[in-house]
Amino acid sequence: MDRLPEELLERINAFRESRLLLTAIELDVFTAIGEGATAAEVASRCNTDARATEMLLNALVAVGMLSKREGVFYNTTASNQLREGAPGAARTALMHVAHLWKRWSLLTECVRRGTAVGVRRRTRAETEAFIAMMDYNARARAPLVVEAIGLEGVRRVLDLGGGSGAYAIAFAQASPEVEVDLLDLAPVLRIARRHIEHAGVADRVKTRVGDLRQESYGAGYDLVFISAICHMLDPEENKKMLRKSYAALRPGGRVVIQDFILEPDKTAPRHAALFALNMLVNTRGGSSYSEPEYRAWLEEAGFQRITRLFVPGPAGLMVGWKLA
Ligand SMILES: C[S@@+](CC[C@H](N)C(=O)[O-])C[C@H]1O[C@@H](n2cnc3c(N)ncnc32)[C@H](O)[C@@H]1O
Repeated sequence: MDRLPEELLERINAFRESRLLLTAIELDVFTAIGEGATAAEVASRCNTDARATEMLLNALVAVGMLSKREGVFYNTTASNQLREGAPGAARTALMHVAHLWKRWSLLTECVRRGTAVGVRRRTRAETEAFIAMMDYNARARAPLVVEAIGLEGVRRVLDLGGGSGAYAIAFAQASPEVEVDLLDLAPVLRIARRHIEHAGVADRVKTRVGDLRQESYGAGYDLVFISAICHMLDPEENKKMLRKSYAALRPGGRVVIQDFILEPDKTAPRHAALFALNMLVNTRGGSSYSEPEYRAWLEEAGFQRITRLFVPGPAGLMVGWKLA
């Protein structure tokens, strides 16, 4: 019998290495190893089985995440970044990927049913990890996005579903005249306020408990910023959100959408096509959307001079103006 190509088998089995790393992160073994530890010491610190822990650590050496000398395991440059307390809080953010693993394991059933199955409200720890990951993705990118948008004529910004506050903070830091309202759910705003206070812009970045599905977003804004929100919603919900954003803008204002934007036939870029499935397993009707879809929704909501801005990285920006 002809054997399948090794490369194809490797690809199908790729989950094993991913699962190994996620379990190491979940159990926090890299922190437990510290400056060097035996398997028994790690097992005792992580409250795990000694034999199984040794198997896990040996496999981590095999994939290059740890080194081992005379029965003692040591962190590497790569694993040191995953220790609790390492700069950038990568471990907290990556716990979100460990949570996503559970959702992705239901992909087959989600494809059968056409929607996410078994979704429940996030626990506090899950929300912390989710927002830490959003912050991880946004922190370095936000000033570049704000620069690409440009703040000429912008005083009042509404950041819809603003998450960790990374973008709201970047808007405020880019211009002393800008004031931002960050609208999000209450458990997330608790985290956003921490970041806003730490950044020293609490006088100009206000948090507002709200729901994207509420009747009105207010009025008189120069800019409505919608980052990584459209993919959570179905097309009809997106159209509604854009109509309400149009109403919230003063004439001469604009909406800026940031998201993973698909090519018209929806098979590229790779990240956006895979992210559509991330939304299938996590939401009722979300997906990645194409540039023609964004253009059509923006036009339908009344926006004009619709353009796409390119900023390095996986997400793109769509801009629409409410002309004076
Ligand atoms: C993927 S995150 C994006 C966060 C941020 N805009 C960014 O780009 O980093 C989605 C955000 O939408 C918020 N969100 C989800 N459903 C919401 C709702 N119904 N009303 C308000 N905010 C919501 C989440 O709490 C989360 O902060």
